[in-house]
Amino acid sequence: MSSQIDHVFDETRVFPPSPEFAAAAVAQPEIYTEAATDREAFWAKQARELDWHTPFTEVLDWSTPPFAKWFADGEINVAYNCLDRHVEAGNGDRVALLWEGEPGDERRITYAELTDEVKRLANVLEGLGVGHGDRVAIYLPMIPEAVASMLAVARIGAIHSVVFGGFSADSLRSRIDDAGAKLVITADGGYRKGKASALKPTVDQALADRGEGEQNTVEHVIVVKRCENEIDWNDERDLWYGDVVGAASNAHEAQAFPAENPLFILYTSGTTGKPKGILHTSGGYLTQASYTHRVVFDLKPETDVYWCTADIGWVTGHSYVTYGPLANGATQVMYEGTPETPQQGRWWDIIQKYGVTTLYTAPTAIRSFMKLGREIPNQYDLASLRLLGSVGEPINPEAWIWYRDVIGGSRTPIVDTWWQTETGAIMVSPLPGVTATKPGSAQVALPGVSIDVVDDDGRPQGAGGGGLLAITEPWPSMLRGIWGDPERFKETYWDKFEKQGYYFAGDGARFDEDGDLWLLGRVDDVMNVSGHRLSTAEIESALVAHEATAEAAVVGASDETTGQAVVAFVIIKESYLKAHAPEGLAQLLRGWVGEQIGPIARPRDVYIVAELPKTRSGKIMRRLLRDVAEGREVGDTTTLADTMVMSTISAQVK
Ligand code: WTA
Repeated sequence: MSSQIDHVFDETRVFPPSPEFAAAAVAQPEIYTEAATDREAFWAKQARELDWHTPFTEVLDWSTPPFAKWFADGEINVAYNCLDRHVEAGNGDRVALLWEGEPGDERRITYAELTDEVKRLANVLEGLGVGHGDRVAIYLPMIPEAVASMLAVARIGAIHSVVFGGFSADSLRSRIDDAGAKLVITADGGYRKGKASALKPTVDQALADRGEGEQNTVEHVIVVKRCENEIDWNDERDLWYGDVVGAASNAHEAQAFPAENPLFILYTSGTTGKPKGILHTSGGYLTQASYTHRVVFDLKPETDVYWCTADIGWVTGHSYVTYGPLANGATQVMYEGTPETPQQGRWWDIIQKYGVTTLYTAPTAIRSFMKLGREIPNQYDLASLRLLGSVGEPINPEAWIWYRDVIGGSRTPIVDTWWQTETGAIMVSPLPGVTATKPGSAQVALPGVSIDVVDDDGRPQGAGGGGLLAITEPWPSMLRGIWGDPERFKETYWDKFEKQGYYFAGDGARFDEDGDLWLLGRVDDVMNVSGHRLSTAEIESALVAHEATAEAAVVGASDETTGQAVVAFVIIKESYLKAHAPEGLAQLLRGWVGEQIGPIARPRDVYIVAELPKTRSGKIMRRLLRDVAEGREVGDTTTLADTMVMSTISAQVK
């Protein structure tokens, strides 16, 4: 990764915005001065774009760091801001969701209709005894009910935990248990790659087979009928979404909740095996999600057709499918399926069909389209596009240029947005119409956001110096904690720069001579595969949970399409080899990890080895394994307990 980044520092191409784009842009250059003059006043102004039941008088309370409170004495209802207020303002007929199912079915849902649906579902949830502070797990495909479910939970002051539909029963179960969810909203299935992919059976499995002393907190499961696939039914527990929502009243008044009322928990991988439940609250989160959506995507809600391709199971889907766009009254495309179904031009077909103006996607998708060739997008009329966005991992200049030229017709600005599940919303990005963009660099902190690149001791590195990305001031959509684990919250993000009070992001970064920021990838044991975060420890523990495995080490190796790929080195138990043939073992273990965590975690390669490289104190030297996985000459082995081990491994891998 770093060698690739080094040569991109030579990048000298810059693309200033066109005068027409600049003149009409939502963000004008003065916004930087305004935010720098009085940061808190700037954020207060952004917050006042929302509708508050009780206006706040205090902006930031940072008296007990790292626990921030934003707009604490204000009261707000998040769902009201995403729905009712647009209807009340006379925009009820505006389309909120232009939804397209993978098989080609369509639904156009206006703000009035979505409000109606959410009110009904809110009544259903309350009728089932779900209330303020209760947790609801959402395990759904990309269908409108997913957005409605999040908003209905928010509306009643409960907390949602969306679990990506690609996660396994085990992953779902541990997330349900950690959050103590009272209710699950799922579907019979969803369409992926041309067929129905079942979801309800996974929920059944996650809720079944409880061991001694394990408590099942889930009282009800609400099931959306999407695929009509055969499913089991538990009469006491399960309810059809269509039945209960259809029978419910559509009168529901949004109550006011304190700005710091928890809104959602979203699990993400950390450096240990156990995923962290990142906690976000209401007023500050919605303020920054909507502000960034407005300025970074230059939103013109009356005319834009916005499309963020992220699944709601990830933070990008939370902030830039559900909360940001809906708070801003945007019209957006939502697509259920995979990009290559039924043909490789599906995305471009959707853009042409709906006249998409703004596309927000991930570098890994762009690189896979590049591989397929420009002939495919060239068959479609993409002239409606006026702005492109990128998120999830560093975008290499080659992909950036291809994205701009082939998809954006050499005309659209590209916003490369850096942020994290923890930051809740975009932190670093060019502003279209203001910033002259530079391929591969995320460039500048947004107005209101303060970042720096520092060394291990928190000292600023200045232009040209590489180091660690730190966020130096609290921000409204910052995580408020790790669910149930305040110690881990402090330890993971705040202990590193305790003296300075900076947030440690876990990313390497560097400012170039122009002061533009380049992200250099994670500095910890977190991998980034197709823009999804995976922890080496989590996959290692899945591998050793298999009866065949004695020991396992996992590394993220650079991969042309997915950014990084999971590569596993596994030692097999002697006893297992006595009873089983070694053929197909690697394949078996790949599948096993897929079942344990989810298909996204499935290793690209599993190498069966006799030994792992360890230091004298027994620490696995992943750096050396990464050399092997990336086909490089193996680096310095002098600190290994057994210096021969690497040549054995290299030979075995070949
Ligand atoms: C990486 C996704 C470079 C980074 C919103 C971060 C990026 C992690 C970019 C968070 C970008 C995200 N350039 N790297 N534009 N965007 N990352 O929590 O390593 O799924 O720490 O949030 O993705 O991933 P997460």
